[in-house]
Amino acid sequence: MPETTQFSETEGNGYTGGRLRPNTILLARYKIDAKLGGGGQGAVYQARDLNFPDARRLVAIKEMIVTTTDANLRASSLKTFQREANILATLNHPAIPKIYDFFDQNDSAFLIMEYINGNNLEEILIKTKRIPMDKILEWAIDLCDVLHYLHSYQPEPIIFRDMKPANIMIDSLGKVRLVDFGIAKIFVSGVKQTTIGTEGYSAPEQYKGNANPLSDIYSLGATLHHVITRKDPRLEPPFSFAERKLMDFNEEASSELATVLDKALNFDPDKRYQSCAEMKEAFLALRYRPTMSVSTPKANGATSEMPRRASRDLNSSTLDGVVQPIWTFKTEDEIRSSPASNDQMAFVGSYDTNLWAIDLNNGEFVWKRPSDAGIACAPGVDMPHSQVIIGSEDYTVRAISMRDGRINWTHITGNKVRSSPTVAHGYVFFGSDDGKLYALNADNGRYQWEYDAGAAIRSKPFISNDRVIFGTEGGEIIGLELNGTRKWAMRPKKAVTSSPFVDLEGICYVGSFDGFIYAIDADSGFSHWRVRTNGPVISSPTVHRNLVYVGSADGKLYCINTQTGKERWTMQTEKPIVASPIVHNGIVYIGGTDNIFYAVDAMSGKELWRFNAKGAITSGAHIADDLVMFGSLDHNLYALPVVQQ
Ligand SMILES: Nc1ncnc2c1ncn2[C@@H]1O[C@H](COP(=O)(O)OP(=O)(O)O)[C@@H](O)[C@H]1O
Ligand SMILES: [Mg+2]
Repeated sequence: MPETTQFSETEGNGYTGGRLRPNTILLARYKIDAKLGGGGQGAVYQARDLNFPDARRLVAIKEMIVTTTDANLRASSLKTFQREANILATLNHPAIPKIYDFFDQNDSAFLIMEYINGNNLEEILIKTKRIPMDKILEWAIDLCDVLHYLHSYQPEPIIFRDMKPANIMIDSLGKVRLVDFGIAKIFVSGVKQTTIGTEGYSAPEQYKGNANPLSDIYSLGATLHHVITRKDPRLEPPFSFAERKLMDFNEEASSELATVLDKALNFDPDKRYQSCAEMKEAFLALRYRPTMSVSTPKANGATSEMPRRASRDLNSSTLDGVVQPIWTFKTEDEIRSSPASNDQMAFVGSYDTNLWAIDLNNGEFVWKRPSDAGIACAPGVDMPHSQVIIGSEDYTVRAISMRDGRINWTHITGNKVRSSPTVAHGYVFFGSDDGKLYALNADNGRYQWEYDAGAAIRSKPFISNDRVIFGTEGGEIIGLELNGTRKWAMRPKKAVTSSPFVDLEGICYVGSFDGFIYAIDADSGFSHWRVRTNGPVISSPTVHRNLVYVGSADGKLYCINTQTGKERWTMQTEKPIVASPIVHNGIVYIGGTDNIFYAVDAMSGKELWRFNAKGAITSGAHIADDLVMFGSLDHNLYALPVVQQ
């Protein structure tokens, strides 16, 4: 209905330079309130939708003006615009504004979209002095998410091409939203190859007219570099980010973060992160596991050192109320996951690629079994077959003889294995980053079934008498029958890395990155209650009597009544808790990323004692033989005495 369009009268033909006046009505429906941004080839306006006269429904209108007089170019520009608008209209992502409508008229085209109440990041940089690093990391994580969504678009990936602070808005809830899908540039020029994004933020290859998903990764790196250093790359020599070290401009920046941005900003696309999912992981590690390094594991057997002897102090235990380790055992890289034990032996995986077997009595080395990449999951003990099952980031799960460390069988999956295996009913159950949950025969590793969850599985499956329950990075909690048939699924809004725990009443407890702790009926998947914490819940719950214990990235250990979902007590620590608690003889044991291992009275939440490790603790504890053992990112496995109350 072009006839119904009105333009400001003073504009002659009315179609130049983004000058729709307030109160102009488009399509007899959208009444312009004010200009929000833009200029030159068009502008963005705030407008009111008159179809909703009683509600103040706001929309944003993006106007684009064709400047060329060449009829062919004009026609092809309009076509390109329509095609792009059609794609945009099919996008469905919380960080992308919804497109309601688009139309073209004479020399202009209009896109009617969801109005975002907020400011763009460029304005925010001007208005603020300092943005907390955690906030920036959260934005970075969400930006990786939305870029990943665009890059996974079928049949062709969508390349954003113009990532920069001015094209990112922060809405009233503090969430990032991507605006400006480069339509204007395509529309104006009609020649895609000239769409080079914005100088300063664009990747080197974009200047040659070759934009691909890796160029978006570069521009996201450039954008974050700007936000963190407050040094505008448009004012600096091209590709000179490496000369402006994050730590010189922002005291909150870590060398790990600098490494991540360096990688994203590599001149050579092949040396950047190869996907936004990969880059997101690096940011997640920085945000929620602050001291965990994101470096790749050392090559196998890189050190010539012999396995060191454990230090042991027989007179240890508690001196002056200070708990001393009975022994410690040092591996060659971070210990991120929990130890296990059987019959006088402890087993622990290290990011140094090895599964280590250690003598429980004295902490001495028994054997080690290398894999080809870091180990980030806990061993599963299979007593009937005298073997330990361990997954590795080399995509493989191995069954290893407890006696001598020899391999009984292996199973290779399609991606990294970070889900700890559970051995039950004669089977080994585990998930893989390839998105599948596997069931293998524990005896010989023979494949039984797999269930394709469509997203990486890092949570350890819980196996009850008739259910296999696990979470996915795609944000599902899934309940299968023992034969792999899906019974139910529940969808928290974010990843479920936490491992479910089912109590004797058949209630399943599990946490999610959305900050909630969920109590679900294990049989049907029906929700009983959920409790909100103030950070992602990566820690896995455990139940003792009628209380469930779990940590949160908000730094608290929660103790919650299983029946009512009411908090009984919480204990605040200084840093996120990602490790899982265990309860033994009325004491909860849990490690923090503040390097402290806590022993807390299970009923009252009162701290009984603490032990300072030299690095963050993300590993859960394991109790055997009056020892409480846990690993730390400082490379050590610690064995402390179980001190009775
Ligand atoms: N949907 C929207 N809701 C609110 N403001 C918006 C919206 N889209 C864009 N803006 C504002 O308008 C500015 C310019 O929009 P953008 O799409 O980036 O146009 P340009 O092509 O001029 O860069 C943005 O930086 C943002 O501040
Ligand atoms: Mg823009």
